Amino acid sequence: KKGKNVNGIIMPAGIDVHVHFRDFKESYKETIESGSLSALYGGVCLVVDQPNTNPPIVDEDIYFKRMNIARKSTYIDYSLNLGLVESNVDKIDEILKKIEENHYVPAIGEVFLRGKMSVSYKTLERARKTVDKLITVHAEDPNEEDDVAAEVKAVERCLKIGKFHFCHISTAKALDLIYNSESTSEVTPHHLLYSREIIKFKVNPSLKSNEERVALVRNFHKADILASDHAPHTLEEKREGAPGFPGVETTYPMFFYMAKKGYIRINDLVEKFVVNPAKIFGFNNYGEIEVGNYANFAVFDPHREKPIRARDLHSKVGWTIYEGLMAIFPKEVYIRGEKVLEDGDVLVDKGFGKVI
Ligand code: DOR
Ligand code: ZN
Ligand code: ZN
Repeated sequence: KKGKNVNGIIMPAGIDVHVHFRDFKESYKETIESGSLSALYGGVCLVVDQPNTNPPIVDEDIYFKRMNIARKSTYIDYSLNLGLVESNVDKIDEILKKIEENHYVPAIGEVFLRGKMSVSYKTLERARKTVDKLITVHAEDPNEEDDVAAEVKAVERCLKIGKFHFCHISTAKALDLIYNSESTSEVTPHHLLYSREIIKFKVNPSLKSNEERVALVRNFHKADILASDHAPHTLEEKREGAPGFPGVETTYPMFFYMAKKGYIRINDLVEKFVVNPAKIFGFNNYGEIEVGNYANFAVFDPHREKPIRARDLHSKVGWTIYEGLMAIFPKEVYIRGEKVLEDGDVLVDKGFGKVI
């Protein structure tokens, strides 16, 4: 009742530190242009893109190439991680230095321990000892078959090596281990909202049992960061088992709605989707571009609740696992003081966003 006459709450714009914007040979799934537009509609002003593209971001040449694409096509501010693979670990420091003559690299990662772009724990340890940079890990042990045990085991092994940021933590046990360490953690909307009984589409780390999900929700306060792990695939690829969900546009709107309802505290949302992302990934002060100190806002009208519809979203894939869930999308977004979105209209051209 108190907020009855409020028609706009000014929030700091979101920082999504975990997106896969594809482009290159996977432009049919998503491009930096479509991904960043989707982010903008979701109240996100800055993303950290992941390096498991085709081709992958594992040296300075490909890093610069991707940044040149981003410069022309991004609607919002854009940053890019450097990938770690067995073949670049020896030169990782050198590559990082070359890139950082021109760009700020938020982190090395996400580092995979399983699958196509994976490295051994030994290589991860070598990288940890070579660089001071934040390293983000997709923590799933390559030899453990049980999904819960795989995450816990990988986190335990990594914590012995040193300090990391752990992506998309899906178990309360792993979250607690990280909470009691120097390392930092990230959780996703899909692991918090859905269990494997509800959604049959695949994602890595997998959706867990509802019991495990509830335990994760109860421990939400221990997570440092909320991030989407926006991982677009076509519906046909999903039917063939490709892992991942789009989410960059729906994260802030769903969680703002939950804050309005009192399911979460609005301060926790700001902390996990703006303050800690900026702090942990070093966006407050990195030379000439100080993104964290700019006037980046998303204005939400708390009365504008509406169900999420795939047809209203801007990712190329055209589907969402959140169809029908309630959300509040921002009615205005400001980036570096400039109004860039108002009542569903984008007021700037692609390329407006800064490449970090
Ligand atoms: O589900 C996932 N999808 N997990 C990952 O780690 C990679 C991501 C992707 O790139 O599609
Ligand atoms: Zn991952
Ligand atoms: Zn990812």
